Amino acid sequence: MSICELRDATKTYGSGAAAVHALDKVSLAFEPGEFTAISGPSGSGKTTLLNLVGLLDVPTSGSVSITGQAAGGLGSRALARLRAENIGFVFQSFNLVPVLTATENVEMALHLAGTSGDRRKLAQETLAAVGLGEMLKRKPAELSGGQQQRVAVARALVKKPAVVIADEPTANLDSTTGSQILDLMREMNDQRKATFIFSTHDPMVMARARRVIALHDGQVAGDEVREPAADGSGGA
Ligand SMILES: Nc1ncnc2c1ncn2[C@@H]1O[C@H](COP(=O)(O)OP(=O)(O)OP(=O)(O)O)[C@@H](O)[C@H]1O
Ligand SMILES: [Mg+2]
Repeated sequence: MSICELRDATKTYGSGAAAVHALDKVSLAFEPGEFTAISGPSGSGKTTLLNLVGLLDVPTSGSVSITGQAAGGLGSRALARLRAENIGFVFQSFNLVPVLTATENVEMALHLAGTSGDRRKLAQETLAAVGLGEMLKRKPAELSGGQQQRVAVARALVKKPAVVIADEPTANLDSTTGSQILDLMREMNDQRKATFIFSTHDPMVMARARRVIALHDGQVAGDEVREPAADGSGGA
């Protein structure tokens, strides 16, 4: 079963002569263990696509489903729950809570997902896995950009979501640090079989993807699988 599926998903902003078709009848299926880049020029619909996959937005027409559950027709609370349980996000600008420590930022994701058990320990273990075992008590302002993005990756992964969505995760980092974040994401894909879908303009980032989907004017202009998914068996 696909982890996420879009069928004829269209997103239109505005109406009449001013209408912008940000996405135009896009049908795509994502499988467990994918490490997929969404490429395309500015305005081609990358963020719109990720927002639909991440259940942050709903299509104007067509359907979106996550782990076989159709998102259409769900109320905002049900949608929020589906999102909290199944999707992790990494943002371009990190989006950590400034007054919370690294550990607390990661723990918060478990709290929102309603995860029981020792949340603190799980948060600390996940931070150690992304190389921040020594920085558990630091607040975002006490961390470099790359370290903040590592916290964000830990926060996205800690609840073992079906899929991690990242909209230009390296765009605010210098190329060396961006490359390290990509290595980390790929390591988490290889080792934990975590599924990643990320957008990028950066050829270096695209080169590391297992699959590259190219958008152009809101349509799929290319879809190339270069390597099989880390885990096609659905064990994540
Ligand atoms: N809230 C909105 N209202 C109106 N138009 C929008 C809105 N959001 C996006 N659009 C339009 O939809 C199209 C796709 O935008 P989107 O943000 O998905 O592109 P993108 O590929 O992510 O671009 P970038 O690389 O610059 O981030 C663009 O033409 C954009 O202007
Ligand atoms: Mg964008």
